[in-house]
Amino acid sequence: MTLLDGKALSDKIKEEVRVEVEKLKNEKNITPGLAVVLVGDDAASATYVNSKHKSCEAAGIYSEVHTKDSSTTQEELLELIEKMNNDPKLDGILVQLPLPKHIDTTTVLEAINPLKDVDGFHPYNVGRMVSNLDAFLPATPFGVMRMFEEYNIGLSGKNVVVIGSSDIVGKPMASLLINAKATVTVCNSRTKDLASHTKAADIVVIAVGVPHLLKGDMLKEGAVVIDVGINRLDTGKLTGDADFEDCKTKCSFLTPVPGGVGPMTIGMLLKNTLKAAYLRDKRESK
Ligand code: GUN
Repeated sequence: MTLLDGKALSDKIKEEVRVEVEKLKNEKNITPGLAVVLVGDDAASATYVNSKHKSCEAAGIYSEVHTKDSSTTQEELLELIEKMNNDPKLDGILVQLPLPKHIDTTTVLEAINPLKDVDGFHPYNVGRMVSNLDAFLPATPFGVMRMFEEYNIGLSGKNVVVIGSSDIVGKPMASLLINAKATVTVCNSRTKDLASHTKAADIVVIAVGVPHLLKGDMLKEGAVVIDVGINRLDTGKLTGDADFEDCKTKCSFLTPVPGGVGPMTIGMLLKNTLKAAYLRDKRESK
């Protein structure tokens, strides 16, 4: 069994981005910029945002974090986004999800200029991704695709089961896999007999937020398991949606948690921010 080392791969991607950012600064006098908006006091979200900010700085990307308290109104948030849409320092805008219940997520995401939508959550980018056109791809599934590439895990003609159908992971993951010519099954909490699907899978991607849902006896011999889940147990320990010790006896490739898909997400966000800066340069050079 080979461990898919997301930490090492993400470090490599961050270094690639750092080198390209330096080149962009030297050759074009362009500094890519990212704004991250955090609304409310969700501890996990605050950790992710902090980590995004630090990684940007390490890569030479200008970064600003806007922390708003949970009573912030939708109008205030939309005003801030409008300002950021018009701010030439910013190539990317990311609103950390989930948002407080009184704010309509769709309205907020649709307010972001699609050319600055480095999360790839605006319907413009979602539509382009589904149509296999150039687009900003959501960082987590984009990171998983990069892992497949790095470890030479072929997708064409493979049976892939995606467990979870969220807008952030499951749905875009399924789209990218379909574009790569995999045969894709998407399961969710209503799926009858989940194991009957996973047992037929060459590759399982799980993103449901249920610790240790996927067991070794649900897999076929030699399956690849990509565990997107990050769950904090009562002991404080982080664990995935797959039962690692149980699955590792059956798998050919397996992602650890932590250190698997998690770190990839930030690497791909930096890539998207760099892409946004290149696109700005292309538009301005016309
Ligand atoms: N919350 C969990 N994952 C993500 C992500 O990739 N982007 C944003 N904006 N919020 C998230």
